[in-house]
Amino acid sequence: MKLQDKVSIVTGGGSGLGRSMCLNLAKEGSKVVVADMNLENAEETVKMIKDNGGEAISVEIDVVNTTQIENMVKTVIDQFGSIDILCNNAGIPGTGVKTAEVSDEAWHKVINVDLTSMFLVSKRVIPQMLKQGKGVIINTSSASGLIASEAGIEYTTAKHGVVGLTKQLAFDYGHEGIRVVAIAPGVIETPLTIKVGATGPEGILHDLTMKAPAGRYGKPDDIGKVVAFLASDDADFIHGHTIPIEGGSSIR
Ligand SMILES: NC(=O)c1ccc[n+]([C@@H]2O[C@H](COP(=O)([O-])OP(=O)(O)OC[C@H]3O[C@@H](n4cnc5c(N)ncnc54)[C@H](O)[C@@H]3O)[C@@H](O)[C@H]2O)c1
Repeated sequence: MKLQDKVSIVTGGGSGLGRSMCLNLAKEGSKVVVADMNLENAEETVKMIKDNGGEAISVEIDVVNTTQIENMVKTVIDQFGSIDILCNNAGIPGTGVKTAEVSDEAWHKVINVDLTSMFLVSKRVIPQMLKQGKGVIINTSSASGLIASEAGIEYTTAKHGVVGLTKQLAFDYGHEGIRVVAIAPGVIETPLTIKVGATGPEGILHDLTMKAPAGRYGKPDDIGKVVAFLASDDADFIHGHTIPIEGGSSIR
């Protein structure tokens, strides 16, 4: 067990990639805080962890609400005494249309939820990690953080922003014991990708995915397993980088 007695917060832990992160972190011995705006789904993840003998709590949170973030941080410290791992993962899809058709509202919403939230949550968790002299932050970018695609300008821009945010966090705090990395998943079959019609033969990212070396959609566990590794001391020399987990879809 590589994460015995660690305390992890996973935003968006009620579904898809976040749920797999929660299950894989718990499998390695971490206590998990499942933070999601959908409390029912977060509780379902908690139940899955507990059924496997792990320890977890749910927290209802909107990751762009600073009061709710501060309350969550306080709850976790009061209950568990530390925050060792933060997975900034909650996110929403882009519109999938070309730039001139993206509404201003859609732009601001996606930039807020997919990028600004990671700044808002990180800056409120970092003081606790500094006190501990140790911590790991893992941000969910996307293959759309590495290349342009059909995902839409607001999503592509937000996810490229996550790559930069990750570098700057690593630069700012690596010397003080906080290791920061990001992941860039390709198309993974989750409620999100199914909802936006990204998967399946008619899906907007189908060709990109099938022409990539792996030639298949990802599964949530393809991501959760790598995140558990990145959270562990085995990944101690990986700082500030965005690790592609995309079946090779961004190599050209
Ligand atoms: N599925 C993919 O193919 C894929 C690929 C690359 C990156 N990503 C990224 O992975 C992350 C998770 O995506 P997923 O596919 O698991 O999606 P999902 O919709 O299955 O899960 C996202 C979770 O985040 C929660 N959430 C959304 N907005 C929130 C907010 N404001 N506050 C708190 N919780 C919120 C939702 O309730 C949901 O439980 C996102 O950042 C997404 O951009 C997904």
